Amino acid sequence: MKLKKLAMIFTGTLLSLAMVGCGGSGDQAKQEAKVLRVGATIDFAPFEFQDEGQKDYQGFDMDLIRAVAKEMGREAEIQNIGFDGLIPALQAKNIDVIISGMTINDERKEKVNFSAPYYQSGLTMVVRSDEENIKSFNDLKGHKVAVQIGTTSANMVKSLEGVTVTELNTPADCFMELKARGVDAVVNDRPVNDYYINQSQAVGVKSLSDMLSAEEYGIAMSKDNPDLQKEIDAALKKLRDNGEYDKIYQKWFGTGK
Ligand code: ARG
Repeated sequence: MKLKKLAMIFTGTLLSLAMVGCGGSGDQAKQEAKVLRVGATIDFAPFEFQDEGQKDYQGFDMDLIRAVAKEMGREAEIQNIGFDGLIPALQAKNIDVIISGMTINDERKEKVNFSAPYYQSGLTMVVRSDEENIKSFNDLKGHKVAVQIGTTSANMVKSLEGVTVTELNTPADCFMELKARGVDAVVNDRPVNDYYINQSQAVGVKSLSDMLSAEEYGIAMSKDNPDLQKEIDAALKKLRDNGEYDKIYQKWFGTGK
């Protein structure tokens, strides 16, 4: 009796295994494995943005993660998620990786794993063209400053004494607030400030040369998946070795690395 039951369970298991092997659910699993679910905050030109009338997200990060996914035999499926929602989305397993101009730091390393760094960045300020009192970070005291919520800029400015900080959802919201004279400065990542000033021909504002900290961007992923980290790092290395990384860098920054 006992044996018979066991035998039944055994054949049952074999049957369902066989079904997974050739049936629909197996194909679906394979399909899912081919997709790399990416989270990004599409508000950060030239890293991740969307021009009006453009279907695909574009930018340095977007090209890089598509190339990384391709190296891994996968296809990047990119979701636009608010910057302060990215790490929670990763923890909830709604996405596999984050690429979003995200700075590698100790606070985040407690929650996620990072790939090897893929971009050197830093923080600068944008002020109105007629601003005369703010020339460096030391001058921020007594002023109002806008930053994107959840960013290293927000952390940094909040640590300064005597600064009134406004945290907004996107860098574009920060620049609008600056032009509307709601704040006196925006602190944000240098390449994004430069792109905003130079490429979008922003009027009435200028970026300052004082750069506060050296930061490095990394691709973030769950701590539960060390294999994924190895795969991503191997893909990044391959792209650096075969010149693809340089091509993407050239395309967005116009200079060699
Ligand atoms: N590098 C900064 C940070 O990690 C800002 C990143 C913002 N990224 C974005 N796509 N808006 O906190």
